[in-house]
Amino acid sequence: MYTIVKKERLNPTVTKMVVLAPKVAKKAKAGQFIILRVHENGERIPLTIADYDRVNGTVTIIYQIVGKTTMLLNQLKEQESILDFVGPLGKPSNIEGLKNVCVIGGGVGCAIAYPTAKALHEQGSNVTVISGFRNKDLVILQKEFEQVSDHSYLVSDDGSTGKKGLVTDVLKELIEQGSQFDEVIAIGPLIMMKFVCQMTKQYNIKTTVSMNPIMIDGTGMCGGCRLSVGGKTCFACVDGPDFDGNLVDFDEAISRGATYKDFEQKEREATCNLLQKEA
Ligand SMILES: Cc1cc2nc3c(=O)[nH]c(=O)nc-3n(C[C@H](O)[C@H](O)[C@H](O)COP(=O)(O)OP(=O)(O)OC[C@H]3O[C@@H](n4cnc5c(N)ncnc54)[C@H](O)[C@@H]3O)c2cc1C
Ligand code: FES
Repeated sequence: MYTIVKKERLNPTVTKMVVLAPKVAKKAKAGQFIILRVHENGERIPLTIADYDRVNGTVTIIYQIVGKTTMLLNQLKEQESILDFVGPLGKPSNIEGLKNVCVIGGGVGCAIAYPTAKALHEQGSNVTVISGFRNKDLVILQKEFEQVSDHSYLVSDDGSTGKKGLVTDVLKELIEQGSQFDEVIAIGPLIMMKFVCQMTKQYNIKTTVSMNPIMIDGTGMCGGCRLSVGGKTCFACVDGPDFDGNLVDFDEAISRGATYKDFEQKEREATCNLLQKEA
């Protein structure tokens, strides 16, 4: 059992939890994830290691409440426990030697982008962060990004905070003003990552994306997380989750991501009803 040491609401749908998991904390690196199970009959869901503290043996996760399991996870209080918390899984982000990097986070993707920006900053890279949200109520991690970046830009779809527009608008402006990025690292909705890659391809900038397909076992055995990358089949849980964005077949990933939409919707409604009855 893994004790929840701290729980904090970052916005109405996003929560941060600090979990006591010393063995995971000891080995965790930026870009890796854990798979958790809330209770014995629960499904396994992957969440990125947003931060870790090797001294105190804790791992931080930041999750958006989107469906059954994240709703159930969010019912747990400080000092209560999560049944399984397996990791670190996946390959760490390959950031060695990068000097000038633009890290882009979209929505809750910022939780995945943050540890990478932090690791880049700690190794002395020049870090530019562009974070984008639908509106001001959904903004997370701005103070944290400012602490680990040399330049930080905030955009929102409706202009209610930061500059009105998309992350790609800022990226284009920076490139056209002469920013020479060795690499762009983009993490967020598939459609955002697809458009970032289309833009960076025009400027010949290497772009890494973090892919979040449905995962079941997280060990390369079930095939649930398969993706086409450069015409080859890859498994995001063991070959990724980071991939060369210019090689990823985003259209296939978007279509595969929608496979269980109806089932997920039913489970979400049933869980909502159950939690309302219990309240
Ligand atoms: C490597 C990786 C890292 C991730 N990191 C984060 C993170 O740090 N924060 C965060 O909020 N979310 C993260 N996700 C997405 C997170 O796993 C899903 O939001 C979660 O599984 C939703 O489960 P649910 O039962 O609450 O929702 P459901 O209603 O079951 O699903 C809602 C949506 O979540 C996704 N999803 C559902 N089940 C899975 C699954 N087993 N594996 C992957 N995706 C699933 C699907 O896109 C689905 O349409 C990550 C996914 C992957 C693959
Ligand atoms: S989650 Fe099963 S192969 Fe990746």
